[in-house]
Amino acid sequence: MTNPERSALIVGASRGLGLGLTETFLRRGWRVTATRRGGAPGLERLATRGVRVETVDIDDDASVAALHGRLDCETFDLIFVVAGVLGESDRPLHTVPRAVHAQVLLTNAVSPILFAEAFSDRLLPGGTLAFMSSVLGSVGLNTEGGWENYRASKAALNTNARSFAARHAERSFGVLLLHPGWVATDMGGEGADLDVATSAAGLADVIEARAGRTDLAFLDYRGEALPW
Ligand SMILES: NC(=O)c1ccc[n+]([C@@H]2O[C@H](COP(=O)([O-])OP(=O)(O)OC[C@H]3O[C@@H](n4cnc5c(N)ncnc54)[C@H](OP(=O)(O)O)[C@@H]3O)[C@@H](O)[C@H]2O)c1
Repeated sequence: MTNPERSALIVGASRGLGLGLTETFLRRGWRVTATRRGGAPGLERLATRGVRVETVDIDDDASVAALHGRLDCETFDLIFVVAGVLGESDRPLHTVPRAVHAQVLLTNAVSPILFAEAFSDRLLPGGTLAFMSSVLGSVGLNTEGGWENYRASKAALNTNARSFAARHAERSFGVLLLHPGWVATDMGGEGADLDVATSAAGLADVIEARAGRTDLAFLDYRGEALPW
């Protein structure tokens, strides 16, 4: 269903799920602003179809403040922080350098919340603030270990988003932590369960179905609730 009134800010859209979400919302009639850090040929192609392409590094306060300034007159029905990293995450925790752990935690768990704090004034009433989490961030489902620093960073993102939601208890927008499934991207790899288009369509369905709600939820791309 198209809805030309809606506007989205997709953060971390150079490739993978962010790029797929940008294309999906564009096709559904949303007005989309999408960000990248450096070169992003796939996203540049979408600029010719009306996407406003912007630049931000969520780890850099000056970069976030500059984007906030450039988008001075813009408000959004959806702000979706998709950006995330792996950092030697397939290795046991104790074999990974401290600086790598610090970077994964910063980018995946802290910077998304700082971005949300900076941009919460740009969310329209009834809108959605979404963070890209992962089922690996579920503490309750962690029975097998593995992907240790990545798991920990997504669990920390979930906790930080709950604290954000509590801090903004009087907010007029919803807060979602979303698991996209295991998706074939640079991060997900070739053997993944889902292609980007399928995951992005599911995530967009979930977001559109929850428009107007102001609660907090941890959901997968099919709209099923995940244990914290
Ligand atoms: N793929 C999966 O199976 C899967 C499953 C669960 C959750 N996720 C989550 O989904 C999100 C997207 O993953 P993906 O699979 O699409 O990964 P990807 O293909 O590796 O893309 C990651 C994106 O994040 C951006 N990014 C990284 N650090 C950034 C920063 N400091 N500032 C701004 N942008 C930054 C990257 O930009 P550059 O191009 O500049 O590096 C890129 O656009 C991540 O949060 C990931 O943890 C993925």
